[in-house]
Amino acid sequence: MAGPEPYYVTTPIYYVNDAPHIGHAYTTLACDALARFKRLDGYDVKFLTGTDEHGQKVEKSAAAAGMEPKAFTDKVSRNFRDLADFMNFSHDDFIRTTEERHLRACQDLWRRLEERDQIYLGTYAGWYAVRDEAFYAESELSKGPDGKSLAPSGAEVEWVEEPSYFFRLSAWQKPLLELYENNPGFILPKTRRNEVVSFVKGGLQDLSVSRTSFRWGIPVPENDAHIMYVWLDALTNYITGVGYPETESGQYARYWPADLHMVGKDILRFHAVYWPAFLIAAGLEPPKRVFAHGWWTNEGQKISKSVGNIIDPIQLVHRYGLDPVRYFLLREVPFGNDGDFSHRAMVHRINGDLANDFGNLAQRVLSMIARNCGAAVPEVGPLDADDEALLAGAHGLHAGMAETMDGQAFHEALDILWTVVRGANAYVDHQAPWTLRKTDEGRMRTVLYVLAETIRHLAILAQPFMPDSCGRMLDQLAVAPDARSFAFLGPDHALAPGTPLPKPEGVFPRFVDEEGEGGT
Ligand code: MSP
Repeated sequence: MAGPEPYYVTTPIYYVNDAPHIGHAYTTLACDALARFKRLDGYDVKFLTGTDEHGQKVEKSAAAAGMEPKAFTDKVSRNFRDLADFMNFSHDDFIRTTEERHLRACQDLWRRLEERDQIYLGTYAGWYAVRDEAFYAESELSKGPDGKSLAPSGAEVEWVEEPSYFFRLSAWQKPLLELYENNPGFILPKTRRNEVVSFVKGGLQDLSVSRTSFRWGIPVPENDAHIMYVWLDALTNYITGVGYPETESGQYARYWPADLHMVGKDILRFHAVYWPAFLIAAGLEPPKRVFAHGWWTNEGQKISKSVGNIIDPIQLVHRYGLDPVRYFLLREVPFGNDGDFSHRAMVHRINGDLANDFGNLAQRVLSMIARNCGAAVPEVGPLDADDEALLAGAHGLHAGMAETMDGQAFHEALDILWTVVRGANAYVDHQAPWTLRKTDEGRMRTVLYVLAETIRHLAILAQPFMPDSCGRMLDQLAVAPDARSFAFLGPDHALAPGTPLPKPEGVFPRFVDEEGEGGT
């Protein structure tokens, strides 16, 4: 029998120049939901995240903090690791680019590129934006209000002239276009794919891949006057994480090529153009997919340090609760689009979708069972068409959700789940078990059983998004911890009548504003 299929998903590695903010939490959250979904679906998942610790930007931030780069990166990297734990992320590995394993991987990749004549020594003279750690052509720049030249991202650029190694990126235009053409799912969403395709069609320049004007980075093998360009260093983390340079056995052989690199739209070009070009040029396989998600604004405004409207994910969770925040971020915006964070929208989701819809469903069903069925899973009698329809909806959820998750349409997966949440609430109202209690207790028990079994499906399938809350819901249904994977969906593993149930308690409380406003 073949073992479980591997699935390898990565987040970008985060610059340690600053405290983590909502953007960082968002990218990793999306990967976490996916990794959890795939694990529950029987895959052998590897989920990698980490920190990007080299380069001029980090060096400058360390200097500004009056610290040595290594001590500075140790401190800031820890904040990212703590955030990951705080957000209940389920990564299997946390990589830091200052680790020895990563130095080895980068230098090996460099040698492979050199051996294949993909790298040559020259001089770089051009524009560089430290904030983006990116080179720009004159034609891409615009003038800021104070006359300074700006990159398309708004970052200030500076003129750089120094000896540099170059990667023969220009030679890879055709193979890249073929890669995009032959693998329509390589870059998602589609609109982003079109942007990359037209960028590459516009022609590619050779890429400067080393710097000599500062020291904080990985030395070029055999010429340590140069350190590697931080993006070459950073992108390599995805193969360091699976044990490269060992390619014939172990994790690389099992997990590479990665199934998915999740990135924000601002760093798509590095992942969808440079990275596959480096890999193909080195004789290695490119990843299977790069998905570029959108950006969050705060109450309609671009998030920026100078505006002072940075959203701290830790504060957000203290205010609204972890699972509601996880749910909101993945439900509110079609994944791939930009989204706006607002208190109003957040409260609307908490009180509408979570408290009124899902929470109330579980609460009223479980408390009726506690009061009227001896605090045990009720006996089930013959099923009528309404019962069958609700259960069929619950049984059908997995297929639809799995398909949307495979396309990274998290909002759609949740939307599908909510069709059954709403269907179950309509069924309760229509069946009115509180009336049946007086007229037909047998039928009441059947109705409550059908509902409990529906809630079991909902809670199992919502675990990737809200692991803690759904875990508590499953506790209340006495579903054993080892019976919560998707293999236990469907009628074969249905709740057993007579199973004693613990005392029910609400899982999704309403949010009440400081002023006592409950929103929706
Ligand atoms: N170090 C590079 C990535 C190297 S990967 C080989 C980097 N780091 S970053 O810390 O600046 O950004 C990491 C991620 O946060 C990016 O995917 C970026 O899109 C995301 N976000 C930053 N601000 C954001 C929002 N306001 N909204 C959503 N995501 C945003 O780039």
